[in-house]
Amino acid sequence: MTVFSRMVLGLTQAGPVRRTITTTRPGLALARRFVAGDTLDEAVHVSKRLNSNGYQVSLDLLGEEVSDAATASGATSEYLACLDRIRGDGLDANISVKPTQLGLAIDEALAFRNISKLAIEAARTGTTVTVDMEDSRYTEATVRMYEKAQAEHGNLGIAIQSCMRRTPADLTRLVPLGGHIRLCKGAYVESEEVALQSKGDIDRAYAAQLHQLMAAKGVKPAIATHDQDLVDLGTALSARRSDPFEFQMLYGVRTELQKHLLASGHPLRIYLPFGSEWYPYLTRRLAERPANLGFFMRAVVGR
Ligand code: FDA
Repeated sequence: MTVFSRMVLGLTQAGPVRRTITTTRPGLALARRFVAGDTLDEAVHVSKRLNSNGYQVSLDLLGEEVSDAATASGATSEYLACLDRIRGDGLDANISVKPTQLGLAIDEALAFRNISKLAIEAARTGTTVTVDMEDSRYTEATVRMYEKAQAEHGNLGIAIQSCMRRTPADLTRLVPLGGHIRLCKGAYVESEEVALQSKGDIDRAYAAQLHQLMAAKGVKPAIATHDQDLVDLGTALSARRSDPFEFQMLYGVRTELQKHLLASGHPLRIYLPFGSEWYPYLTRRLAERPANLGFFMRAVVGR
């Protein structure tokens, strides 16, 4: 993450900025670009539109850093309702879950029980569960939870972050488990001790890991990036791959590139967040592309 991106992230933590974004029309419009809506109904509506245009979907109920078991259990129930809609509405979709939303920051065993419920229901629905990767405080516990859940249920996948110094070792642990592995650059502010810092170093790590994943058997790589060079590398490597893989992109980001990839015949899954807890997610999208915040500021001043 660049110094500028860190500054934007710092700025969005300030109370007045948060209030302006969450209560004004331009702020809500900005959120709508990246988030399907507050409710499951809205997410289902957008999913149907995406499916009818040829995209697969991964539904993400927003929420993280849950600090009590009841809220974690509530999030699990909402995800069960989501799987019910995937089945009932015949959506081409899976779910993406944040471990701390299921209770990982409170108790690893609780998060494991919750993810197991989701994996069992997802299997009945004929779909999968992807475990999102959060910041480095949770990486080891997340990998541990995933190893256990994937060994037991077999229908999970996990996100790994190229910026993390531990990722090559994690790949050695994760590839033999099968499932799908979502390769992303990493969205959190991390220290130099645990993570690569420059865009060049992160992009080189991503390319090396992409080569490794696209050559691996028994695992489904998910190429999760909007970086043109890395998308091109993924496309080139896919020509040599007979096993399944897919591209993944975030709802509202580089939609022209999304259309282009799909039109070229590549499988593309759109990560589709929904729910009222959208602010932390939005701040990460603003930090990745500070120009997004500029558009918003101009809209506020224009009013
Ligand atoms: P990069 O940031 O270099 O951006 C490449 C280009 O894409 C930019 O030049 C710009 O044009 C465009 N772009 C990128 N972000 C944009 C934005 N917000 N708005 C407008 N344009 C933008 N991270 C994580 O830590 N844990 C996770 O579980 C996940 N999960 C995940 C799922 C999926 C499907 C995707 C695509 C990404 C994630 N991420 C994630 C986020 C990921 O780590 C990363 O922060 C973003 O994808 C941005 O990195 P890029 O690879 O797109 O490259």
